[in-house]
Amino acid sequence: MDLEKIKDLLEEELNSCSNLEDLEKIRIKYLGRKGILKEYFKKLKEFPEEERKEKGKILNELQERIENFLEERKKDFEREKEEFIDLFIPGRKIENGSFHPISIVLKEIEEIFTSMGFEVVSGPEIESDYNNFEALNIPKEHPVRDMQASFFIEEDIILRTHTSPVQIRIMKSKKPPVRIVAPGKVYRVDPFDPSHSPVFHQLEGLYVDIGVTFAELKGTIEIFAREFFGPETKIRFLPSYFPFTEPSAEVSISCTICKGKGCSTCGGTGWLEILGCGMVHPKVFENVGYDAEKYTGYAFGFGIERMAMIKYRIPDIRLFYENDIDFLRIFK
Ligand code: DAH
Repeated sequence: MDLEKIKDLLEEELNSCSNLEDLEKIRIKYLGRKGILKEYFKKLKEFPEEERKEKGKILNELQERIENFLEERKKDFEREKEEFIDLFIPGRKIENGSFHPISIVLKEIEEIFTSMGFEVVSGPEIESDYNNFEALNIPKEHPVRDMQASFFIEEDIILRTHTSPVQIRIMKSKKPPVRIVAPGKVYRVDPFDPSHSPVFHQLEGLYVDIGVTFAELKGTIEIFAREFFGPETKIRFLPSYFPFTEPSAEVSISCTICKGKGCSTCGGTGWLEILGCGMVHPKVFENVGYDAEKYTGYAFGFGIERMAMIKYRIPDIRLFYENDIDFLRIFK
Protein backbone atom coordinates (compact mmCIF):
# COMPACT_ATOMS: atom_id res chain seq x y z
CA MET A 1 0.00 0.00 0.00
CA ASP A 2 1.45 3.35 -0.87
CA LEU A 3 1.72 6.10 1.65
CA GLU A 4 -0.99 8.28 0.16
CA LYS A 5 -3.48 5.50 0.48
CA ILE A 6 -2.45 4.80 4.04
CA LYS A 7 -2.87 8.47 4.82
CA ASP A 8 -6.42 8.55 3.38
CA LEU A 9 -7.45 5.40 5.16
CA LEU A 10 -6.04 6.70 8.42
CA GLU A 11 -7.94 10.02 8.20
CA GLU A 12 -11.14 8.15 7.53
CA GLU A 13 -10.63 5.93 10.56
CA LEU A 14 -9.68 8.79 12.82
CA ASN A 15 -12.85 10.62 11.88
CA SER A 16 -15.07 7.71 12.75
CA CYS A 17 -13.57 7.20 16.25
CA SER A 18 -16.31 7.49 18.86
CA ASN A 19 -14.92 6.01 22.06
CA LEU A 20 -11.82 4.90 23.94
CA GLU A 21 -11.94 1.41 22.44
CA ASP A 22 -11.81 2.82 18.89
CA LEU A 23 -8.70 4.80 19.84
CA GLU A 24 -6.99 1.70 21.19
CA LYS A 25 -7.75 -0.21 17.98
CA ILE A 26 -6.15 2.55 15.93
CA ARG A 27 -3.10 2.64 18.16
CA ILE A 28 -2.56 -1.09 17.73
CA LYS A 29 -3.31 -1.05 14.02
CA TYR A 30 -0.88 1.77 13.17
CA LEU A 31 1.61 2.14 15.99
CA GLY A 32 1.67 -1.38 17.43
CA ARG A 33 4.80 -3.55 17.14
CA LYS A 34 3.35 -5.15 14.03
CA GLY A 35 1.38 -2.07 13.06
CA ILE A 36 1.23 -0.62 9.57
CA LEU A 37 3.70 2.20 10.24
CA LYS A 38 6.21 -0.04 12.01
CA GLU A 39 6.15 -2.50 9.07
CA TYR A 40 6.62 0.34 6.65
CA PHE A 41 9.59 1.69 8.59
CA LYS A 42 11.22 -1.74 8.29
CA LYS A 43 10.74 -1.74 4.52
CA LEU A 44 12.37 1.67 4.08
CA LYS A 45 15.83 0.26 3.49
CA GLU A 46 14.60 -1.34 0.27
CA PHE A 47 14.13 2.11 -1.25
CA PRO A 48 16.83 4.27 -2.85
CA GLU A 49 18.31 7.00 -0.70
CA GLU A 50 16.18 9.96 -1.96
CA GLU A 51 12.88 8.11 -1.73
CA ARG A 52 13.80 6.66 1.64
CA LYS A 53 14.33 10.15 3.08
CA GLU A 54 11.06 11.41 1.68
CA LYS A 55 9.00 8.44 2.84
CA GLY A 56 10.70 8.47 6.22
CA LYS A 57 9.65 12.06 6.71
CA ILE A 58 6.04 11.30 5.82
CA LEU A 59 6.02 8.27 8.09
CA ASN A 60 7.29 10.38 10.99
CA GLU A 61 4.62 12.98 10.32
CA LEU A 62 1.93 10.30 10.25
CA GLN A 63 3.17 8.84 13.49
CA GLU A 64 3.14 12.24 15.14
CA ARG A 65 -0.34 12.98 13.79
CA ILE A 66 -1.69 9.73 15.23
CA GLU A 67 -0.02 10.22 18.61
CA ASN A 68 -1.37 13.73 18.98
CA PHE A 69 -4.81 12.69 17.85
CA LEU A 70 -4.96 9.77 20.29
CA GLU A 71 -3.83 11.90 23.21
CA GLU A 72 -6.35 14.66 22.59
CA ARG A 73 -9.36 12.48 21.89
CA LYS A 74 -8.54 10.31 24.86
CA LYS A 75 -8.98 13.32 27.12
CA ASP A 76 -12.27 14.21 25.43
CA PHE A 77 -13.69 10.73 25.76
CA GLU A 78 -12.66 10.44 29.40
CA ARG A 79 -14.33 13.72 30.21
CA GLU A 80 -17.49 12.66 28.39
CA LYS A 81 -17.53 9.42 30.34
CA GLU A 82 -17.37 11.31 33.65
CA GLU A 83 -20.11 13.74 32.71
CA PHE A 84 -22.42 11.12 31.35
CA ILE A 85 -25.82 11.24 33.05
CA ASP A 86 -27.99 8.18 32.73
CA LEU A 87 -31.56 9.48 32.91
CA PHE A 88 -32.97 5.97 33.09
CA ILE A 89 -31.36 4.86 36.37
CA PRO A 90 -34.16 4.49 38.97
CA GLY A 91 -34.07 7.27 41.59
CA ARG A 92 -32.86 6.74 45.16
CA LYS A 93 -35.69 6.51 47.68
CA ILE A 94 -35.79 9.54 49.98
CA GLU A 95 -35.84 8.48 53.63
CA ASN A 96 -38.24 10.56 55.69
CA GLY A 97 -37.35 11.19 59.30
CA SER A 98 -39.96 10.86 62.03
CA PHE A 99 -40.67 12.30 65.44
CA HIS A 100 -38.90 10.76 68.42
CA PRO A 101 -41.19 8.51 70.51
CA ILE A 102 -40.84 10.91 73.45
CA SER A 103 -42.07 13.79 71.27
CA ILE A 104 -44.97 11.68 69.98
CA VAL A 105 -46.07 10.59 73.46
CA LEU A 106 -45.60 14.07 74.88
CA LYS A 107 -47.76 15.61 72.15
CA GLU A 108 -50.48 13.06 72.80
CA ILE A 109 -50.40 13.74 76.56
CA GLU A 110 -50.41 17.52 76.04
CA GLU A 111 -53.45 17.22 73.78
CA ILE A 112 -55.37 15.27 76.42
CA PHE A 113 -54.66 17.91 79.06
CA THR A 114 -55.26 20.94 76.83
CA SER A 115 -58.64 19.44 75.89
CA MET A 116 -59.44 19.58 79.62
CA GLY A 117 -58.47 23.26 79.86
CA PHE A 118 -54.81 23.01 80.93
CA GLU A 119 -52.24 25.40 79.49
CA VAL A 120 -48.80 24.05 78.49
CA VAL A 121 -45.93 25.97 80.11
CA SER A 122 -42.23 25.37 80.67
CA GLY A 123 -39.47 26.25 83.11
CA PRO A 124 -35.66 26.18 83.04
CA GLU A 125 -33.61 23.02 83.51
CA ILE A 126 -31.05 24.90 85.59
CA GLU A 127 -32.90 25.75 88.78
CA SER A 128 -32.31 27.21 92.20
CA ASP A 129 -32.19 24.92 95.21
CA TYR A 130 -34.99 27.11 96.56
CA ASN A 131 -37.46 26.45 93.71
CA ASN A 132 -36.51 22.79 93.32
CA PHE A 133 -36.63 21.90 97.04
CA GLU A 134 -37.03 24.63 99.64
CA ALA A 135 -40.25 26.23 98.33
CA LEU A 136 -41.75 22.76 97.83
CA ASN A 137 -41.43 22.15 101.54
CA ILE A 138 -38.25 20.10 101.22
CA PRO A 139 -35.71 21.70 103.59
CA LYS A 140 -31.97 20.99 103.42
CA GLU A 141 -31.98 17.96 105.74
CA HIS A 142 -35.09 16.34 104.27
CA PRO A 143 -34.61 12.64 103.35
CA VAL A 144 -36.46 13.13 100.04
CA ARG A 145 -33.30 14.88 98.84
CA ASP A 146 -31.52 11.51 98.96
CA MET A 147 -34.07 10.04 96.57
CA GLN A 148 -33.46 12.91 94.15
CA ALA A 149 -29.66 13.23 94.27
CA SER A 150 -28.82 16.39 92.35
CA PHE A 151 -26.26 17.50 89.82
CA PHE A 152 -24.80 20.76 91.10
CA ILE A 153 -23.92 23.73 88.91
CA GLU A 154 -22.75 25.73 91.92
CA GLU A 155 -23.84 26.01 95.52
CA ASP A 156 -27.65 26.28 95.54
CA ILE A 157 -27.87 26.06 91.73
CA ILE A 158 -28.71 22.61 90.37
CA LEU A 159 -30.14 20.77 87.39
CA ARG A 160 -33.78 20.35 88.39
CA THR A 161 -34.55 16.88 89.75
CA HIS A 162 -38.26 17.10 88.88
CA THR A 163 -40.65 19.44 87.07
CA SER A 164 -42.32 20.50 90.35
CA PRO A 165 -40.32 23.79 90.56
CA VAL A 166 -42.38 24.99 87.58
CA GLN A 167 -45.35 25.02 90.00
CA ILE A 168 -43.45 27.53 92.14
CA ARG A 169 -42.48 29.72 89.17
CA ILE A 170 -46.04 29.81 87.82
CA MET A 171 -47.65 30.58 91.18
CA LYS A 172 -45.09 33.28 91.95
CA SER A 173 -45.81 34.98 88.62
CA LYS A 174 -49.59 34.68 88.46
CA LYS A 175 -52.68 34.86 90.66
CA PRO A 176 -55.20 31.96 90.69
CA PRO A 177 -56.85 30.43 88.82
CA VAL A 178 -53.92 28.49 87.35
CA ARG A 179 -54.36 25.31 85.42
CA ILE A 180 -51.10 24.23 83.79
CA VAL A 181 -49.08 21.24 82.67
CA ALA A 182 -45.30 21.63 82.48
CA PRO A 183 -43.35 19.00 80.52
CA GLY A 184 -39.56 18.90 80.38
CA LYS A 185 -36.24 17.25 81.12
CA VAL A 186 -35.15 16.43 84.65
CA TYR A 187 -31.80 15.22 85.99
CA ARG A 188 -30.80 12.89 88.79
CA VAL A 189 -27.59 11.19 89.87
CA ASP A 190 -28.93 7.79 88.84
CA PRO A 191 -27.33 4.83 87.05
CA PHE A 192 -27.95 4.23 83.35
CA ASP A 193 -29.72 0.86 83.39
CA PRO A 194 -32.96 -0.64 81.97
CA SER A 195 -35.16 1.38 84.32
CA HIS A 196 -33.02 4.44 85.17
CA SER A 197 -31.42 7.28 83.31
CA PRO A 198 -29.60 10.36 84.67
CA VAL A 199 -31.80 12.47 82.39
CA PHE A 200 -35.43 11.78 81.60
CA HIS A 201 -38.71 13.63 81.04
CA GLN A 202 -41.53 14.47 83.40
CA LEU A 203 -44.82 16.27 83.14
CA GLU A 204 -46.11 18.33 86.03
CA GLY A 205 -49.74 19.30 86.47
CA LEU A 206 -51.20 22.01 88.71
CA TYR A 207 -54.69 23.36 89.19
CA VAL A 208 -55.39 26.04 91.80
CA ASP A 209 -58.66 27.91 92.30
CA ILE A 210 -61.40 28.47 94.85
CA GLY A 211 -62.97 25.17 95.83
CA VAL A 212 -60.74 22.69 93.90
CA THR A 213 -61.27 19.21 95.39
CA PHE A 214 -59.55 15.83 95.53
CA ALA A 215 -62.57 14.42 93.64
CA GLU A 216 -61.66 16.66 90.69
CA LEU A 217 -58.09 15.40 90.84
CA LYS A 218 -59.38 11.82 90.68
CA GLY A 219 -61.67 12.63 87.77
CA THR A 220 -58.91 14.36 85.81
CA ILE A 221 -56.43 11.50 86.31
CA GLU A 222 -59.05 8.95 85.40
CA ILE A 223 -59.93 10.73 82.15
CA PHE A 224 -56.25 11.06 81.30
CA ALA A 225 -55.53 7.36 82.00
CA ARG A 226 -58.49 6.16 79.91
CA GLU A 227 -57.65 8.48 77.01
CA PHE A 228 -54.00 7.50 77.02
CA PHE A 229 -54.05 3.79 77.87
CA GLY A 230 -57.49 2.87 76.54
CA PRO A 231 -61.12 3.06 77.76
CA GLU A 232 -61.01 -0.24 79.68
CA THR A 233 -58.20 1.04 81.96
CA LYS A 234 -58.94 0.91 85.71
CA ILE A 235 -57.24 3.27 88.13
CA ARG A 236 -56.35 2.94 91.80
CA PHE A 237 -55.35 5.64 94.30
CA LEU A 238 -53.20 4.65 97.28
CA PRO A 239 -52.16 6.98 100.11
CA SER A 240 -48.60 8.20 99.72
CA TYR A 241 -46.30 10.94 100.88
CA PHE A 242 -44.84 13.98 99.14
CA PRO A 243 -43.65 17.01 101.12
CA PHE A 244 -45.47 19.43 98.78
CA THR A 245 -48.92 17.79 98.84
CA GLU A 246 -51.29 16.84 101.64
CA PRO A 247 -52.96 14.45 101.35
CA SER A 248 -50.78 12.68 98.77
CA ALA A 249 -51.51 9.67 96.63
CA GLU A 250 -49.83 7.41 94.15
CA VAL A 251 -51.88 6.26 91.20
CA SER A 252 -51.70 2.90 89.48
CA ILE A 253 -53.48 1.63 86.40
CA SER A 254 -54.62 -1.94 85.75
CA CYS A 255 -51.72 -3.74 84.08
CA THR A 256 -51.89 -3.20 80.32
CA ILE A 257 -50.36 -6.62 79.66
CA CYS A 258 -52.35 -9.01 81.87
CA LYS A 259 -55.39 -6.69 82.32
CA GLY A 260 -55.08 -7.00 86.10
CA LYS A 261 -54.64 -10.76 86.46
CA GLY A 262 -50.98 -10.51 87.50
CA CYS A 263 -47.90 -11.05 85.34
CA SER A 264 -44.15 -10.47 85.39
CA THR A 265 -44.46 -6.87 84.16
CA CYS A 266 -46.68 -5.84 87.09
CA GLY A 267 -44.84 -8.11 89.52
CA GLY A 268 -47.95 -10.25 89.96
CA THR A 269 -49.98 -7.39 91.47
CA GLY A 270 -52.09 -6.56 88.43
CA TRP A 271 -51.24 -2.86 88.86
CA LEU A 272 -48.64 -0.49 87.39
CA GLU A 273 -47.77 2.70 89.24
CA ILE A 274 -47.88 5.69 86.92
CA LEU A 275 -47.80 8.91 88.94
CA GLY A 276 -47.70 10.86 92.18
CA CYS A 277 -50.25 13.50 93.12
CA GLY A 278 -52.07 15.26 95.92
CA MET A 279 -53.61 18.48 97.21
CA VAL A 280 -51.14 21.38 97.25
CA HIS A 281 -49.65 21.75 100.75
CA PRO A 282 -50.61 25.02 102.56
CA LYS A 283 -46.88 25.56 103.19
CA VAL A 284 -46.31 25.73 99.42
CA PHE A 285 -49.12 28.29 99.04
CA GLU A 286 -47.54 30.32 101.81
CA ASN A 287 -44.14 30.22 100.03
CA VAL A 288 -45.59 31.65 96.81
CA GLY A 289 -47.85 34.17 98.50
CA TYR A 290 -51.21 32.47 97.86
CA ASP A 291 -53.92 32.65 100.52
CA ALA A 292 -54.25 29.04 101.75
CA GLU A 293 -57.56 29.90 103.45
CA LYS A 294 -59.08 31.00 100.18
CA TYR A 295 -57.60 28.63 97.59
CA THR A 296 -57.13 24.92 97.20
CA GLY A 297 -55.41 23.05 94.43
CA TYR A 298 -54.13 19.74 93.23
CA ALA A 299 -50.84 18.76 91.63
CA PHE A 300 -49.50 15.67 89.91
CA GLY A 301 -46.30 14.56 88.24
CA PHE A 302 -45.16 11.61 86.17
CA GLY A 303 -42.38 10.35 83.92
CA ILE A 304 -42.95 10.52 80.15
CA GLU A 305 -40.58 7.61 79.42
CA ARG A 306 -42.46 5.43 81.89
CA MET A 307 -45.78 6.25 80.22
CA ALA A 308 -44.33 5.41 76.79
CA MET A 309 -42.74 2.20 78.09
CA ILE A 310 -46.03 0.98 79.53
CA LYS A 311 -48.11 1.94 76.52
CA TYR A 312 -45.73 0.59 73.85
CA ARG A 313 -44.23 -2.24 75.96
CA ILE A 314 -40.70 -0.90 75.71
CA PRO A 315 -38.50 -2.98 78.03
CA ASP A 316 -35.47 -0.67 78.42
CA ILE A 317 -35.41 3.12 78.99
CA ARG A 318 -32.00 3.36 77.29
CA LEU A 319 -33.64 2.66 73.91
CA PHE A 320 -34.96 6.24 73.95
CA TYR A 321 -31.48 7.75 73.89
CA GLU A 322 -29.47 5.41 71.69
CA ASN A 323 -30.72 6.70 68.30
CA ASP A 324 -31.10 3.18 66.96
CA ILE A 325 -32.80 3.71 63.59
CA ASP A 326 -34.68 0.38 63.76
CA PHE A 327 -36.18 1.35 67.11
CA LEU A 328 -37.13 4.86 65.97
CA ARG A 329 -38.73 3.55 62.76
CA ILE A 330 -41.33 1.65 64.79
CA PHE A 331 -42.92 4.99 65.65
CA LYS A 332 -43.19 6.27 62.06
N1 DAH B 1 -42.09 15.56 91.79
C1 DAH B 1 -42.40 14.17 92.09
C2 DAH B 1 -41.25 13.29 91.63
O1 DAH B 1 -40.47 13.71 90.84
C3 DAH B 1 -43.66 13.76 91.38
C4 DAH B 1 -44.85 14.43 91.96
C5 DAH B 1 -45.54 13.85 93.00
C6 DAH B 1 -45.29 15.63 91.46
C7 DAH B 1 -46.65 14.44 93.55
C8 DAH B 1 -46.40 16.26 92.00
C9 DAH B 1 -47.06 15.64 93.06
O2 DAH B 1 -46.84 17.43 91.56
O3 DAH B 1 -48.16 16.25 93.57
O4 DAH B 1 -41.15 12.18 92.04
